[in-house]
Amino acid sequence: MTLLVTGGAGFIGSNFVLHMLRKYPEYRIVNLDKLTYAGNLENLREVESDPRHIFCQGDICDSDLVLELLRRYSVEAVVNFAAESHVDRSILEASAFVRTNVQGTGVLLEAAKRHPLKKFVQISTDEVYGSLGPEGKFTESMPLHPNSPYAASKAAADLLGLAYHHTFGVPLVITRCSNNYGPYQFPEKLIPLMIINAMTGRPLPVYGDGGNIRDWIHVLDHCDAVDDVLHKGNDGEIYNIGGGSELRNIDLVKLILEHLGKPESLISFVEDRPGHDRRYANDTGKIQQELGWRPRYAFEAGIAETIRWYQRNESWWKRIVSGEYQQYYKMMYEGR
Ligand code: NAD
Ligand code: DAU
Repeated sequence: MTLLVTGGAGFIGSNFVLHMLRKYPEYRIVNLDKLTYAGNLENLREVESDPRHIFCQGDICDSDLVLELLRRYSVEAVVNFAAESHVDRSILEASAFVRTNVQGTGVLLEAAKRHPLKKFVQISTDEVYGSLGPEGKFTESMPLHPNSPYAASKAAADLLGLAYHHTFGVPLVITRCSNNYGPYQFPEKLIPLMIINAMTGRPLPVYGDGGNIRDWIHVLDHCDAVDDVLHKGNDGEIYNIGGGSELRNIDLVKLILEHLGKPESLISFVEDRPGHDRRYANDTGKIQQELGWRPRYAFEAGIAETIRWYQRNESWWKRIVSGEYQQYYKMMYEGR
C-alpha cells in the first residue's frame, strides 16, 4: 500500500509515519509537509534513509503538486494530518487556519475526485462539538458547535469532506480525537510547555481557574486508531477517539510538577483564553465496538514516559525554544 500522509513532520503525523513503517514493512509513505514552525524533520530521523519514506516539502493548497504526487507514486490512500493546530494561534490570527485547514482539505478532496483512492482519512478533532457541561460525552451524531476559529476551520473541513463523499463517492472517513500527548509535541501545547517550563524553573501559566477539563490520549493510541480506521473504517462514517482520561488542567500541572520534584509555587494563574471551552470528553463506543480499537496507555504510565522523553531529548526541544518560539512566547504570555 502506498499512502500519502500530509503533515507527517508534525507531532501526530510523524508519530504516525514511524508507527506505520515499523508495523507494515511493505508499505510506502509519501509525506507531504510544508514545514511550518510546527514541522520538524528531526522527528523523522529514524526513517531518514528508509527508501519507503519519500519526503516532499510542499503545501496541501498546491493542487498541481498534490495531483502529481498521487499519480507519480500511484497513491492508494490519503491520511490528512496537515493543519494549523493551535487554538491560541487561531485566536491571534486565523487566516492560515482557514487557508490550510479548509482550502487545503478542499484541494486534497478535489484531487481525490481525479485520482481514485481506496480511502481518504480526514483527521479532525473533538473540538468541533464545542464544550460540555460537567456530565455527558461527545457522540458522533451530536450537532457541531465549534467555538474557536481553529475548531470552526476543522468543522468546515469535515463538512466539505462529507459532501465530497455524498456527491462524488470519495471514500472518506473522519476521525475526531481528543487531546494528544507524547514525544515530539511542539511546546506551545499544554503538556510539553509545562514540562519544559518546570524543568527550566519558569512559571507555569495556567489559564483562568485551571478547572477546564481535557480527555488525554497517548499519541501512539491515536496512531493505532487511525491505522484501524484506514484499514477497517466504513466510508462516510465518523469515529470518535479518546483516552478516557479526563483531568482538570490544574491537576495535570500539579502531577507534572510532582513527577519532576518541582514546587507548586511555580504555578501562575493567568488571564483566560477567550472563548475557552470548559470540558471535552469523547464517547469512543463506536470505534471500540465496530473496529475493535482500545487505548493501551494508562495515563499515569504515559505521562511518566513522556516526561522522561523530554528529559532525555533536551537537544530536540532546546533547538525549538531558542528560535522564533521566544517571540511567540513573549507575545502570548508576557504581562498576561
Ligand atoms: P502539528 O501542528 O504538530 O503539525 C501540523 C503539521 O502540518 C506540521 O508538520 C506542519 O508543517 C504541517 N502543515 C501545516 N500547514 C501545512 C500545509 N499548508 N501544507 C502541508 N503541511 C502543512 O499538529 P498535530 O498536533 O500533529 O495535529 C495533527 C492533526 O491532528 C491536525 O489536523 C489536528 O487538527 C489534529 N488533531 C490534533 C490533536 C492534538 O491534540 N494535537 C487532537 C485531535 C486532532
Ligand atoms: O481536543 C483536541 C484538540 O486538543 C486538538 O484539536 C488541538 O489541535 C490541540 O491543540 C488541543 O487543543 P487544546 O486547546 O485543548 O490544547 P492546549 O494544549 O492548547 O490546551 C489544553 C488546555 O490547557 C486548555 O484548556 C488550555 C489550557 N492551557 C494551555 C496552554 C498552552 C493553559 O492553561 N495554559 C497554557 O499555557
